[in-house]
Amino acid sequence: MLRAMKRPAMRSDMRRRLASSAQGVCKFGNSKEAADYTPRAANLRASGSAPVARKGTPDRSVPARLGGLLFSILLATAAGGQTPGVKRSEFGKMPDGQGVDLYTLTNRHGMQVAITNYGGRVVSWLAPDRHGEMADVVLGFDSLDGYLHDNPYFGAIVGRYANRIGKARFMLDGMEFRLAQNDGPNSLHGGRKGFDKVLWKARPLSTKEPSIELSYLSPDGEEGYPGNLSVKVVYSLTENNELRIDYTATTDRDTVLNLTNHSYFNLAGQGNGDILKHLMMINADRFTPIDDTLIPTGELRKVDGTPFDFRKPVAIGARINDNNEQLKFGKGYDHNFVLNRRGHRLTLAARVTEPNSGRVLEVLTTQPGLQFYSGNFLDGTIHGKAGKAYGYRSAFCLETQHFPDSPNKPQFPSTELKPGQTYHQITVYRLSTAT
Ligand code: BGC
Repeated sequence: MLRAMKRPAMRSDMRRRLASSAQGVCKFGNSKEAADYTPRAANLRASGSAPVARKGTPDRSVPARLGGLLFSILLATAAGGQTPGVKRSEFGKMPDGQGVDLYTLTNRHGMQVAITNYGGRVVSWLAPDRHGEMADVVLGFDSLDGYLHDNPYFGAIVGRYANRIGKARFMLDGMEFRLAQNDGPNSLHGGRKGFDKVLWKARPLSTKEPSIELSYLSPDGEEGYPGNLSVKVVYSLTENNELRIDYTATTDRDTVLNLTNHSYFNLAGQGNGDILKHLMMINADRFTPIDDTLIPTGELRKVDGTPFDFRKPVAIGARINDNNEQLKFGKGYDHNFVLNRRGHRLTLAARVTEPNSGRVLEVLTTQPGLQFYSGNFLDGTIHGKAGKAYGYRSAFCLETQHFPDSPNKPQFPSTELKPGQTYHQITVYRLSTAT
């Protein structure tokens, strides 16, 4: 059972960290939330938490002074809570000198999510445990430099095609399209320079809840994909302690598309051991078995009696080393689950509980599939935020998606997008605590 979060009793190092991130602009206004958004499934109770105090770092530029004035007014009017808003700060420079920003979204409960416009990456997510202790629950780096070096898509928006396309090719309208082979014989996560490595245009939105919009125009032929594709991703931090991700896209030529977010979670705090004791629930009766290159065979297999049955919560580590061909192919869990759903509304896909901290992550989505990846390729060589080494299975990903290799599997839900159509998917990551 979930319960409301307590007032976060912040450690002094966390307070310092929040203070140093409190600079730049503050955006705030009226909500224009999409009417189709169901904030929580009927059988769930989301958490709320009390506010925390925070101090800003003085910045005397004109925009900062105006922002500061607005900030003060808001402080005076906020009903005793943390002032919600978006703050922009510099995150680093691209090799060609372009500036990259970090947007820190804060909600009334003091929860903070920081996102950079390089790859649209979620850089940090500060969330309280059952005693109110804050921790950063996603893997990543302290500055842009870390992201510019080789890393496994930490926090990124992945596209044009998240996950794998077999033999790096597909047919569309009778034509063959060839992609980069960047994962054995296959194409993974959009190719050599996918959406995780491009600089997105970013702007804070005038919505009630802190939000930013990222946009990117992917030119016809980029990474081998047809069509000029216009993509928008809106990240919002809601009052229910949810990070809501709203993806839309249009094209001027028939194409295929599969967008996701590739955040790596450790609910005990990033860099704080492995995730094998986390309890995983996945709302799926079936999964898509894979071959030894991790491409789905095309079968939708029942999870009954297999290590893929997560319909009731089970520790991730309970069966991960079973003598099972699918687990061998994935080197652990690296599989797409066929979500149980009716219609296109937001549906609960997964719930993960970390028993020590009590932190609970729920994932809701409009998508048909969910890739559960248990961090099998992390090996301790990458050092991330605060110098933490990211060891074997020290994080998990829950990537909402269409099924891998759909362009070559006509029996799977279609990933085609045509001119005049609008791609629209929503995923919500919700954090709370359990008793
Ligand atoms: C894939 C893994 C891959 C990881 C990082 C996941 O989405 O399923 O096989 O190692 O991304 O690239």
